Amino acid sequence: MSCGFFMRKKGCVYMMEDTIKFIDEKTNGFKPEIGIILGSGLGELADEYCEIAISYNEIPHFIKSTVAGHKGRLVFAEINGKKVVMMQGRNHFYEGHSMQEITYPVKVMKKLGVKTLILTNAAGAVNKTFVPADLMLITDHINNMGSNPLIGANDSDLGERFPDMTEIYKHKLIKLAKKCAKKLDMDVREGVYLANSGPSYETPAEIHFARTIGADAVGMSTVPEAIVANYCSMDVLGISCISNAASSPGGEKLSHEEVIETTNKAREKFKKLVLSVIKSL
Ligand code: HPA
Repeated sequence: MSCGFFMRKKGCVYMMEDTIKFIDEKTNGFKPEIGIILGSGLGELADEYCEIAISYNEIPHFIKSTVAGHKGRLVFAEINGKKVVMMQGRNHFYEGHSMQEITYPVKVMKKLGVKTLILTNAAGAVNKTFVPADLMLITDHINNMGSNPLIGANDSDLGERFPDMTEIYKHKLIKLAKKCAKKLDMDVREGVYLANSGPSYETPAEIHFARTIGADAVGMSTVPEAIVANYCSMDVLGISCISNAASSPGGEKLSHEEVIETTNKAREKFKKLVLSVIKSL
């Protein structure tokens, strides 16, 4: 999928044309202005607000989701007066897909007209003051995945070869989300999200390292999508749902079930915040 040289770049253009044509036909030319990528256990928003749904399996050049609890469909809806496209379930690097493949839907959203992308995930707490079911607004990230989705020939129609990364998570959106949270009488945290490739959770030593280098939360997603969205000049808001205390010496064992269980507990709060942000955008 990566466009290594001109001929392949041309191929990529055709791929995108295929995808957009298919989606346009299915949605009757729906033009979303807001995109949301819903993380583990947070997909309910797409069930509640679903006007048109297309399974990733049907969409040309999309990859299927293989993780239990991830649905794998693109959902279109008008929410609080705004046209929104939601990814209910995302593909992960740890499933064996390339960085370019997992971020293809972000480029598709850009082509569909999305200007603001809300990235959500479940994350482990690295910051010792965070507790499960807290919501954290992502202020910045650390890419510890060992790769970058922009590796390969650059498509200058989409963005620059060496994109600036000074303010991926837009201050104006963080401010807006904090205002929404305050109106809802909801506490939100702020912090730096560190992404590892996964699929194994971190060792206590790796969490100590993450804390030492300035991370507040840790996960296995979001960063590739944020890099591509920033590259394509989209405004990004990131929200982590803290699903567990990250591993510590002698601490409790961590399971995917626990992550899903906690995000389920936090999802009402999460939904309220996202709905309020959509309304205020
Ligand atoms: N580590 C990595 N990814 C995660 C975690 C964690 O503790 N919790 C949810 N996703």
